Amino acid sequence: MSARGQAFGIDIGGSGVKGAAVDLATGELVHERVKIATPQPSTPAAVAAAVAELVAEAGWDGPVGVTLPAVVLGGVARTAANIDKDWIGTDTRALFSEALGGRAVTVLNDADAAGLAEDRYGAAKDFDGLVLLLTFGTGIGSALLYHGTLVPNTELGHLEIGGIETEHRAAASIKDRDGLSYPQWAAEVSTVLIGLENLFWPDIIVAGGGISRDADQWIPLLTNRTPVLPAHLRNTAGIVGAAMAIDSGLLP
Ligand code: BGC
Repeated sequence: MSARGQAFGIDIGGSGVKGAAVDLATGELVHERVKIATPQPSTPAAVAAAVAELVAEAGWDGPVGVTLPAVVLGGVARTAANIDKDWIGTDTRALFSEALGGRAVTVLNDADAAGLAEDRYGAAKDFDGLVLLLTFGTGIGSALLYHGTLVPNTELGHLEIGGIETEHRAAASIKDRDGLSYPQWAAEVSTVLIGLENLFWPDIIVAGGGISRDADQWIPLLTNRTPVLPAHLRNTAGIVGAAMAIDSGLLP
């Protein structure tokens, strides 16, 4: 199956490989997400096999877009902060294409995908300036968009603020690891946001990742200047952004 106005997105995360066809007019999933547990260890070959299984299960025969939690340049993964180090240097576009019978594949950073989706269909859709999306999860992912155009692979989770990488200071996983309360964790997030807004001066900041579900417990505690909005698409943003990236000409 592949239909006009639809594209297929796959989001590769630490616990699940999730995918669905997306209606590009609305940003909505056409059917329920298909989810397969991320293989452990999550080597490129094992994940490519899971991607092939997912696409077969969904019965999709067109091109696909895929996210990875890594810098992706021209389809090649360049980093692997929170995933198997074997990804570094892997031509992921060729790997997934081969696993999918030679069809066209687009691969992009996971937070970039979420940024594209939130900018067009979600929390930032009514804003036309500079949008900074941050995903708070195991690490911190970032996407920077100006009037809808993505600056790919910004990796602000690795920017040092106050001598500490932002994702080591304020990822959601740090809250869990150190047993921080929301006020304690929000203070760390504020430090990160103040550092970032003083460098980039975004019009709005969109906060994504699983912890954005509890946004009312911590966004009101933030002390930075730029308005912070919780992500709207939640657990579909990666899938939707991956589908949008196909043939978009937006990626290096
Ligand atoms: C990685 C990014 C990724 C982010 C969220 C970071 O550790 O370097 O590429 O977007 O985690 O998964």
